[in-house]
Amino acid sequence: MAEPLLQTDNVRKSFGGLTALDGVSLEVRAGGVAGLIGPNGSGKTTLFNVISGFAAPDVGEVRFDGARIDGLSPDRIARRGLVRTFQASLNPQAMTVMENLLLAPQQQVGEGVLAALFRPGAIRRQEDQALERAWEILAQIKLDHQADTPAGSLSGGQKKLLMMGQALMVRPKLLLLDEPVAGVNPRLIDGIVGVIRALQSQGQNFLIVEHNMQVVRRLCDSVTVLDAGQIIASGATDEVLQRDDVLRAYLARQSGR
Ligand SMILES: Nc1ncnc2c1ncn2[C@@H]1O[C@H](COP(=O)(O)OP(=O)(O)OP(=O)(O)O)[C@@H](O)[C@H]1O
Ligand SMILES: [Mg+2]
Repeated sequence: MAEPLLQTDNVRKSFGGLTALDGVSLEVRAGGVAGLIGPNGSGKTTLFNVISGFAAPDVGEVRFDGARIDGLSPDRIARRGLVRTFQASLNPQAMTVMENLLLAPQQQVGEGVLAALFRPGAIRRQEDQALERAWEILAQIKLDHQADTPAGSLSGGQKKLLMMGQALMVRPKLLLLDEPVAGVNPRLIDGIVGVIRALQSQGQNFLIVEHNMQVVRRLCDSVTVLDAGQIIASGATDEVLQRDDVLRAYLARQSGR
């Protein structure tokens, strides 16, 4: 079988006395949507931070697309084709939808690198290509009629789609989404699920953290379950989600809140 697109090996991460990740070995294969689930505080976002370079692991390795990436900065990891979204919105609210998209690649991979991708002096061509890519993405995330709308006046669901769109600007091989439907009006969740499925059918790979189990069932072919910083189950979504230990871990923690 081909090497996994993404692999963590025995990743540990502590904050003071708290062990957030306790030896996590995860594999994500190309060609689908992988899920990462677990109760609040189980380490999902911390694992995303470690994979995407926003936090360094204390111990362990991360491999992406055949090379070690642990210890690299987020922009260097983005250049290799791995980009993530954040659980909370970071958009400068006053900028328009289009401006947010056009600014995203500089934030992800750095201005110097973008310029180096094109011939010196060919700034105009670079801008044209970014604009073309932005319109393509706006159609995919169904915000093409809102290009000039200030991001702050979008609905919660549209903001989530815009964050996904920003990440897509650099054509990542793997896109990590941290809770793509959290806080979204239930009527609008279908729209987000539809966009992710359409992107997946065009070959986009995803790793998704999500608490909404209906969404996990609809989107993910495989699921890994974290509990207190350790993987307690991993495999085909249907099989994992009917395991008693998974349900117990999940329900026990959730009911405490
Ligand atoms: N920067 C930090 N400093 C100290 N503790 C942290 C930090 N980041 C995370 N933690 C702790 O690490 C543990 C795992 O947190 P993490 O945010 O990864 O959980 P999560 O699975 O994403 O939870 P949720 O589902 O609520 O988003 C928690 O106990 C959290 O309080
Ligand atoms: Mg989280």
